[in-house]
Parts: sequence; structure tokens; C-alpha cells
Amino acid sequence: MRHKITVVGAGNVGATCAQRLAERNYADVVLVDIVPNMPQGKALDIMQAGPIYGYDTLVIGTNGYEETAGSDVVVITSGLPRKPGMSRDDLLFANMDIVKSVVQNISKTSPNAVLIVVTNPLDAMSQLAWQVSGFPAERVMGMAGVLDTARFRTFLAMELKVSVSDVSAHVLGGHGDTMVPVPELTTIGGVPVSHLLTDERFEEIAQRTRDGGAEIVKLLNTSAWYAPSAAVVEMVDAILLDKKKVLPVCALLRGQYGIKDLYVGVPAKLGHKGVEEIVEVRLTEKQRAELQKSVDAVKENWDKMTAKL
Ligand code: NAI
Ligand code: 2OP
Repeated sequence: MRHKITVVGAGNVGATCAQRLAERNYADVVLVDIVPNMPQGKALDIMQAGPIYGYDTLVIGTNGYEETAGSDVVVITSGLPRKPGMSRDDLLFANMDIVKSVVQNISKTSPNAVLIVVTNPLDAMSQLAWQVSGFPAERVMGMAGVLDTARFRTFLAMELKVSVSDVSAHVLGGHGDTMVPVPELTTIGGVPVSHLLTDERFEEIAQRTRDGGAEIVKLLNTSAWYAPSAAVVEMVDAILLDKKKVLPVCALLRGQYGIKDLYVGVPAKLGHKGVEEIVEVRLTEKQRAELQKSVDAVKENWDKMTAKL
């Protein structure tokens, strides 16, 4: 039997996820949105690319949850994106109700699914999805670090004029202005980045990464979707194909990094069970302090939200 992946929200990120997942040809895809006819139209359009692209994926568009039943993985992109001048946190209350109702539906129809949250503000929405679903924490995670790290790797490759595939990196912390790129985890063809870039230049590129989402919002008047959807697919691959891949993932910490009961971005091993292990790396005092600042920002959002739940 083929796997089933549901993508909730058929907007920019969701529809592009559905397209990329259909092209992977390893699972059927259900695309859900509240806008009448829109997910149905997009699903049909994606399916009709199959004969040209060479995939047999069944893509179903719907405004309900019946067709999502028994999904292996559910990607949640439903919610408002940022507009110029808005931070991810401005989306907090608007998206809270949307994510809550989506997770209530999904946890009934797909009680064994792995949930990947994309809706912003990402860390708080991942925590909300975990609480509302009642799923074990390893089956609820957020996508942000793969995207932030991909942006960082792109900027480093542009700077050093090397292939992006030579650049390895990890970005920790919340998906916001306080995210923490870690020089010790950044290598170019195995060479530590400190051999190739000054600390000052590294920090400038790290700052462009922190501002990476806003840079695109300024250009497009809405937030990015090509790289975000690619990041989601890398996570789905790791789960469905049980790759045991170590990726930056927004996951529930239970004491790791000195953080308790909070969803934050850290390196984690992804496999068919979901988050199979949190990988703890040694951090400098400065990085620990930066991570704490990021955790405080995430916690502030979560506290604001729990007051309204
Ligand atoms: P979009 O506006 O293009 O699409 C959102 C879709 O959600 C719309 O089609 C809307 O009708 C649908 N929707 C709203 N309420 C719904 C509900 N209750 N059930 C089902 N569908 C519903 O927005 P876009 O660009 O796709 O972004 C989606 C979310 O992802 C935003 O919150 C954005 O900030 C976030 N995002 C997060 C990233 C990350 O790294 N975690 C990266 C990029 C976007
Ligand atoms: C991004 O980083 C807005 O979170 C979204 O592009």
C-alpha cells in the first residue's frame, strides 16, 4: 500500500509542498484548504503533470478531512503569512485558532500520523500542535531549521564561491530574529569555516540569515515558499524513508540543552518514528547565552498564547 501524506493549507507553501511531494512519487497526497474548489483545482493540476514528469501520484484536493484519514505524515501550512513590516510573532493569535482546529481534525482522522508544522510563529505553533493532538512528542515537530540552514548555506556558498553541497551548517534556537548559527558546526568541504572567513564576515552572513525571511517578504510582499517547501520535503523524506537523517528540527526539549518542556530548534535524528533522538552539541558560553535569549523569545510567545487558550 502506498503511503499517504496530507498537506493542510493549499496556499503558496502548501501547494508547492504538494507538488514537490507528488514529484517524489512515493506517497499519495491529500491537499486541504477552506477555500472552496481551490485545493481540488490545484490537486488536479499537479496530477496532470504526472504523465509529463513521470509520476503516478494520486493527488486529492478537498475542503474536509474524510480523505485525509490514515495519513502517515501531515504537513500543516494553514494560516496567514507575513506582510511587510510584520514579524512572525505578529501572526500569533491569528494563526492560533487555525492550527488548533486543524490539529483537532487531524488527530481524529490520522491518530498515528507524524505532524510537521510550518505555520508561524513556528515554535509556538509546534508546541500548540503537540498539546492539542495529545500525540507523543516524537510525532510532532516543526520545520524551520532546515530552511534557515539552507539560507545560511546559500549565503556562505555565494560568499566563498563554492558549491552549496560543500557547505554544512546548523542553526539552533527559535525561528525568529534570535536564531543561532553555530560556527563550530559550519564546514566547507570539511574545512571549518573559521579557516576561510573572519569572525566579522561570518557574523554578517549569520545576520543576513536571521533576516532571510524578511528579505524575501520585502521583495514579494508575502513570505517565501520555494525553499520552505523544499525544506519540508527533506524532512518528509527522512521520515517516510526512515533515513535517520540529522537535521535541524523544532522539537520538544526535555532537559536537553538545559531547556525543559519547550519546542525549540535543535539538531535531531529523523526516522520513521519521527524525532528519534535530540542531538546535543557542545556550545560555547556565548552560544549558550544566545540560545537562552532565543528560548526566552519562544517562551514569551508560548506564554502569550497559553493565556488565550
Ligand atoms: P498562504 O496564504 O499562501 O496559504 C495559507 C493557506 O491556508 C490559504 O490558502 C488559506 O486559505 C489556508 N487556510 C487558512 N485557514 C485554514 C484552515 N482552517 N484550514 C485549512 N486551510 C486554511 O500562506 P503561505 O505563504 O503558504 O504560508 C503559510 C504559513 O506558513 C504562514 O503562517 C507562514 O508564515 C508560514 N511559513 C513558515 C515557514 C517556516 O519556515 N516555518 C516558511 C514559510 C512560511
Ligand atoms: C520565512 O522564514 C516567513 O518564516 C518564513 O520565510
